[in-house]
Amino acid sequence: MVEKREPVVRLERGFWIITAVFAVLSIAAVVYWYYAPVSSWLPEGAKPAEEIDELFKFMAAIASVLFIAVFGYLLYFSFTFRAKKSDAAGAIGVQIHDHHGLELWWTIIPAILVVVLSALSVKIWYQIQIQPNNGLVVESIGHQWYYTFRYPQVHGEITDAMHLPVNEPVTLNVTSADVIHSFWVPAFRLKADMVPGLINTLRFTPTLPGTYKIICTEFCGTQHAEMNQQVVVVESKAKWEAWYHGWQQKNANVSDALPKAGGGTIALASGDPKAGQALFATKCSGCHAVGPFDQKIVGPGLKGILDDPKHPNLVDGAPANPADVAKILQNGYKGDYPVAMPNQTANGLSDKDIANLVAYLGSLK
Ligand code: CUA
Repeated sequence: MVEKREPVVRLERGFWIITAVFAVLSIAAVVYWYYAPVSSWLPEGAKPAEEIDELFKFMAAIASVLFIAVFGYLLYFSFTFRAKKSDAAGAIGVQIHDHHGLELWWTIIPAILVVVLSALSVKIWYQIQIQPNNGLVVESIGHQWYYTFRYPQVHGEITDAMHLPVNEPVTLNVTSADVIHSFWVPAFRLKADMVPGLINTLRFTPTLPGTYKIICTEFCGTQHAEMNQQVVVVESKAKWEAWYHGWQQKNANVSDALPKAGGGTIALASGDPKAGQALFATKCSGCHAVGPFDQKIVGPGLKGILDDPKHPNLVDGAPANPADVAKILQNGYKGDYPVAMPNQTANGLSDKDIANLVAYLGSLK
C-alpha cells in the first residue's frame, strides 16, 4: 500500500540551523582558499604559475562550497527523513516535481560559474599557447626514456638537464622521437604531450632560480616511471651562457639530424684505443661489461666483440666488424633488451669518440 501524502515539505528549525552551519563552513572554506599558501606547497617557478594557482584556488573554493552543500544536505536529509518504524513497507517520501524556482537557480548559477571559469582559463591559455613572446626558442624531444633538448646554434641534442636563464621569455616546442610522452614541470604548472610528428608549444618565463623536475605523465613503456629529468633555472645570464657555449663546443661535430641518420662514414682508422677506454668507462660501462657476451649488465658483455667465434654477428644481425659496431654506436639499439641503447646524439658522442670506442673494443681480445 502506497501511502498518499500532501506534497508539502515543512522545513523545521533543524534545517535552518544546519543551513547556518553550512554557511559558516562555506565562508571558512572560501577564506581558507583565498589565503592558501600554494606557492609554499610547490614553488611557482615561472610566469603563468601564479595565475594558474589563482585559478586553482578559485576552483577549489567553489568546489569546497559545493562539497559542503551536497554532502551536508545529503547526510542531513538522509537522517531527518529516514523511514520510521511505523511506516508501511514500500512507503515513499514526499515527491517534488517541477519546482521552477529551484530549477531556474540550479541552472543559472552553474552556467555563470562555467562561463567565468572558461573566461579565466582562456586568458591563461592564450598566454601559454598563442601570445608571441619572442624569447629563447628551445626544443625538447621525448625518447624512451629520457628527454633531450635542442638550442639555437647548438648542434644535435643536449642530453643533460634543460638550462634556462631566469626572467627570459621561453618558447618551448616539444615533440617525440618514438612514442607519446609528456613534458610536465609541476613547478611551472605547465604540461604538454610529446607526440611523434606533432609539435606542441608552451610559452613561459622562468622567474625563480632553482632546479625543478620534468616528469613524463604519459605511459610510454616499461621505464615510464623512471622518465624524469631536470630543468635548471640559472640565476644569471652569464652563467647560463657559459653552459650554453660549453655545449656549442662539445657538440661542434655532432650532426643535427634527428635521430642521427646512420651510415655516415667515420674515419675509424684514426681511432685511439686509450681514449676509447677512458670513454668506455664513463659512457658504456654502466650497461656493458668488459667480459664475455653472456656477462650481461643491461646489454651484452663486449670483450672480443670483433673476434668471437660463438657470436660472429652483432645483436642487430650485422657481421661483427668495426663499421657495423660503429653503426650501432651511431643509431643506438633496442632489440630484446630491457633498456634501449641511446643513439650517438643522445649519448653525446662525436664521430671521433665513436672511432676511439671502436678502436678500444677492437683491442679487447
Ligand atoms: Cu615517457 Cu612516459
